[in-house]
Amino acid sequence: MGMYFPLLWLMIMKVWVVTSTPTTLNETCFDGATATFMLSFGLYQDSCPEAEAIVFAWVERVVSEDPRMAASLLRLHFHDCFVNGCDASVLLDDTPNFVGEKTAGPNLNSLRGFEVIDSIKADIEFVCPGTVSCADILAIAARDSVLLSGGPTWEVEMGRKDGISASKTAANNNIPGPNSDVPTLVSKFQNLGLTLQDMVTLSGAHTVGKARCFTFNSRLNGGNGNTPDINVEFLQSLQQLCSVSDVNATLADLDATTPANFDNQYYLNLLAGKGLLTSDQVLATGDDQTRGIVESYIDDPTLFFESFKRSMMKMGRLAPGDDGEGGEIRRNCRVVNQLNL
Ligand code: HEM
Repeated sequence: MGMYFPLLWLMIMKVWVVTSTPTTLNETCFDGATATFMLSFGLYQDSCPEAEAIVFAWVERVVSEDPRMAASLLRLHFHDCFVNGCDASVLLDDTPNFVGEKTAGPNLNSLRGFEVIDSIKADIEFVCPGTVSCADILAIAARDSVLLSGGPTWEVEMGRKDGISASKTAANNNIPGPNSDVPTLVSKFQNLGLTLQDMVTLSGAHTVGKARCFTFNSRLNGGNGNTPDINVEFLQSLQQLCSVSDVNATLADLDATTPANFDNQYYLNLLAGKGLLTSDQVLATGDDQTRGIVESYIDDPTLFFESFKRSMMKMGRLAPGDDGEGGEIRRNCRVVNQLNL
């Protein structure tokens, strides 16, 4: 995984990218409470025209070997953006003097894909050093993961800066837990400027990927997080699956019907009582407003895809507290430049 792509390959990609990238450069500014967060389309068009093709080639390669990696890369971007904005803080390794986000409850033994991001970053640094942020790489990899799983695609706005700090506490507080009810989910999204509709839409990412028995076990025994509306056969199959000693290593598909396809099946599952997490199931059974959105995505898959694109772009604009001004372009996504001499 850590190997470099051959130079010849990169030169071929360069020709392809130069002829296929858009020619217009649009800038969009998002006014935060105190300052302005600036992202733009086509930012790397001149400074690193190969960037998007390198990300795509890597994501295509790793997903063909391990389809679940698409889900894992999509989730990495989410867990990045929900903690002090999309600044790649989630990628920072712990050091003896620094505690990052990787050991926070929602991340520990759970997040995957760090080595894929390392490989992408190494190849991009090789062709255009110091140019493309790790946070932008996460956003592009998430977009490509959705497309390669059969979902929609969109143009990614670029220009995020990599943060020079991280917050385990904020990771624990901001990222919603699997036993959350609708009001809790809504408030975690609204705290960041995302709506109830964004929450239901982005939860549709659970059309791909897996969760550990550890995560949803409490549902199966009538404990905290139990939802009475769970389908009985589905419940029994999960009880059997999770009656093992290693609940961290045993996994269930978040969408039991079409686990590796990005489609609207997740919402159909919810109406059938087959949402894996409590936080999934309550969208259909815990609130009329969220249920209405679930039904609309079942009736109209195109509406789901269009909404998903819009909400992903919105999430991708979540800005750090300083709007990225104190940030940098990390050379190695795992460590801030000052410590990477
Ligand atoms: C709405 C609140 C959400 C909650 C409570 C939640 C919770 C979870 C949990 C507990 C897992 C399984 C972790 C494990 O067992 O190791 C998971 C997996 C996943 N989540 Fe979410 N999530 C939410 C929203 C999102 C959003 C907004 C996205 C992306 C846009 C997302 C993408 C994913 C993906 C793709 C996986 C599977 C990852 C893999 O297989 O590696 N989730 N989520």
